[in-house]
Amino acid sequence: MLSTKVHTRICSPQQATKLSKVVVPLLSASSVRYPAGFHVTILATSNQNHHGAVRSFSTTPAAQLRDFFPVQETENIRRTLPAWPHHGYTEQEMLEVVPAHRKPETWGDLFAWKFMRFCRWGMDTCTGMKSEQKVDKGNPTTAVHSIKPLTEAQWMIRFLFLESIAGVPGMVAGMLRHLHSLRRLKRDNGWIETLLEESYNERMHLLTFMKMCEPGWFMKLMILAAQGVYFNGLFLSYLVSPKITHRFVGYLEEEAVHTYTMAIKQIDDGHLPKWSSPDFLVPDIAVRYWKMPEGRRTMRDLLLYIRADEACHRGVNHTLSNLNQDEDPNPFVSEYKGTRSPPRPALKAEGYERAEVI
Ligand SMILES: [Fe+2]
Ligand SMILES: [Fe+2]
Repeated sequence: MLSTKVHTRICSPQQATKLSKVVVPLLSASSVRYPAGFHVTILATSNQNHHGAVRSFSTTPAAQLRDFFPVQETENIRRTLPAWPHHGYTEQEMLEVVPAHRKPETWGDLFAWKFMRFCRWGMDTCTGMKSEQKVDKGNPTTAVHSIKPLTEAQWMIRFLFLESIAGVPGMVAGMLRHLHSLRRLKRDNGWIETLLEESYNERMHLLTFMKMCEPGWFMKLMILAAQGVYFNGLFLSYLVSPKITHRFVGYLEEEAVHTYTMAIKQIDDGHLPKWSSPDFLVPDIAVRYWKMPEGRRTMRDLLLYIRADEACHRGVNHTLSNLNQDEDPNPFVSEYKGTRSPPRPALKAEGYERAEVI
């Protein structure tokens, strides 16, 4: 069941070429199963395997081995650009991001933090993480040392699952604030755009990883179920307490920064050779979105960009949780008096206190 030969005629030569650009470096196909049934197929091949040759894949049916979202060729359109172009980072900013944790101060914070611990436990268990692959339990969001590294396939499962749910909160919060503004005939003061942009950014993370691997049916089912539960849960919780919900998202983003920091460390320590290979190419969608410069397009570079994005979300959501939800403007898109520039959330792991920014 784990490894069957499939023919690649299902891909058009054009699609196969596009896929090869992102998977060439993973010199052989790898497929991993976990106790709870998670399964991911890393689309891996080499150039000579294209155009009808045989290649090895795992259980995912041949019909699904395709580029999930090939560029649609039309008669008139050359390219569709991102609606929210990425603002970019300096290398220094990306390297200065560190895992951090904001200590709960209120009962609401404590509830959000405990619930996040429960979610993290659930994800570790379902993705088959072994105890020697986990970090110090006493510092789960800041410790990055583990006895045993994860494999590339295990990381990919975590990335995909994490990103598939990370894009939900910004959309729910943005949607609810949008509707609130319409029905109460009130201004929103700039929160909606930041929240929607956050969910767009998370979806770009997911699309980037989707160009590198294909989840199995069980994982697709889990993503579907998780979205159903998560969307409705967040919808209700944002109606009841947007403050606690933003705190919860801040803690979720702490987990994201932690996850990407561990992956970067394991690349640096030489444990993820497929991603360290000089032949590795990140997908075009990532190069265009982050405007990744020539010569800085390794998996490590990509993870540095994504981690910096997560650090922004962490700082933004912890800050938004500290503000008056009804009255305060969004500090991150505000123009300040004097020469002061807007706050930079990426390096403010615990978020800004209200008095600092309003
Ligand atoms: Fe993300
Ligand atoms: Fe995020």
